[in-house]
Amino acid sequence: MANESVSVKMDGPQKAYRGKKLRIAIIGCGGIAQTHLGAYRKNPAVEVVAGVDIRADRLAIMRDKWGVKPEALFGADLASGKELSKTAWRDMLAAMGDKVDAVDVCTPNGVHCQPVVDCCKAGRHAFVEKPMAMSVDECKRMVAAAKQGGVKLSVGFQQRYRPAFKSLVEARDNGAFGDILFMKVRRLRRRGIPNWGVFGRKELQGGGPLIDIGVHFIECAYEFMGRPKPVAATGNTWSYLGNRKSETLVRCPWPGWDWKTYTVEDLAIGQVRFENGALMQIETSFAAHIEENDVAGFWAMGTKGGCEFPSGKIFTDQNHTMVNITPAYLDPAGDEWDSLFATKLGNWVDGCLKGTPLGATGDDGLNVQRILNGLYDSAAAGGKEVAIH
Ligand SMILES: NC(=O)c1ccc[n+]([C@@H]2O[C@H](COP(=O)([O-])OP(=O)(O)OC[C@H]3O[C@@H](n4cnc5c(N)ncnc54)[C@H](O)[C@@H]3O)[C@@H](O)[C@H]2O)c1
Repeated sequence: MANESVSVKMDGPQKAYRGKKLRIAIIGCGGIAQTHLGAYRKNPAVEVVAGVDIRADRLAIMRDKWGVKPEALFGADLASGKELSKTAWRDMLAAMGDKVDAVDVCTPNGVHCQPVVDCCKAGRHAFVEKPMAMSVDECKRMVAAAKQGGVKLSVGFQQRYRPAFKSLVEARDNGAFGDILFMKVRRLRRRGIPNWGVFGRKELQGGGPLIDIGVHFIECAYEFMGRPKPVAATGNTWSYLGNRKSETLVRCPWPGWDWKTYTVEDLAIGQVRFENGALMQIETSFAAHIEENDVAGFWAMGTKGGCEFPSGKIFTDQNHTMVNITPAYLDPAGDEWDSLFATKLGNWVDGCLKGTPLGATGDDGLNVQRILNGLYDSAAAGGKEVAIH
């Protein structure tokens, strides 16, 4: 029978799940953890059993909204509101024992490495939000710990799960672009300096827009290129706006950022050279004087064709004519924020429970970090080309 154009199927109760569940502890129960928790609630193969944070109000949300038992909350005292420990994932591991299979690390970037290392060595699978860490050495320690613990480590890049990305990868694999010579990555905000968290503090984040938002598109552009080895970087960074009081500037969507502690860049521009001769040009900003409010994507140029992400457009020659190919349909639901998180976290959960292949692995995160740190190292050296190892 043909499919009906209008489904008459009723939404029933969530399917019963009989398999083994992944019992997860959330480390860092702030903003992005809430999106993760929403995705886990809809995934019948997951049970969130513990929470770790240095803030009691965040732990209270874990208890009140997400139903985690008070005795499984670590890092702050719910009664007094006092912070108890900055490394409370260790208390969690000791107290929860084999009642936790995996951890999901959603702390600021400077607190990604150690919880992953400790938990992986203790035999717990780990998911870590992007960027993987602050330095290449930290990423190497994390990859080594996952290997030592025999566990799955995945990094929180979600752009690669967008329908347009899958479509372009298929075109690439069918030879649509030939050899990819040049990638341009742009993640520019006209005025979007985060006014929450610690995104302006270099010691806790590792940098500004390059490591925070540019990283997403660097990662998927790099994946699209087929992960060639990065060998050298040139980069420059500038700070000219975030370190000034926002109220004295102009109206913008996120005013009132903490300008006194702002030590990251506003604008980072750079270029990465790969072993196969390809180049990646990178432009990222929290505050750039450009026409658009938000630019996000990559542009690829190959010997046979080029393309644009996330539009999914392909530019090539057909029948002795230059043609632009625009996808007529890409599932819009697949681009939605919650859906992307459900997909990326579901990929890791399945990897842990069933051994299915991971999307973004620890090695992927490490390679992306090589690119980020190469660009920052070059900027620190006044924009001179530096080798990437
Ligand atoms: N994939 C994405 O699109 C995406 C989006 C936003 C944030 N992120 C990443 O998620 C991470 C967190 O960002 P956020 O926006 O949720 O920040 P946030 O400040 O809202 O949350 C971080 C939480 O970590 C807690 N924390 C800090 N130090 C801790 C410690 N030592 N032990 C336990 N908890 C600690 C904080 O109290 C806070 O509750 C960052 O690495 C960020 O880059 C990813």
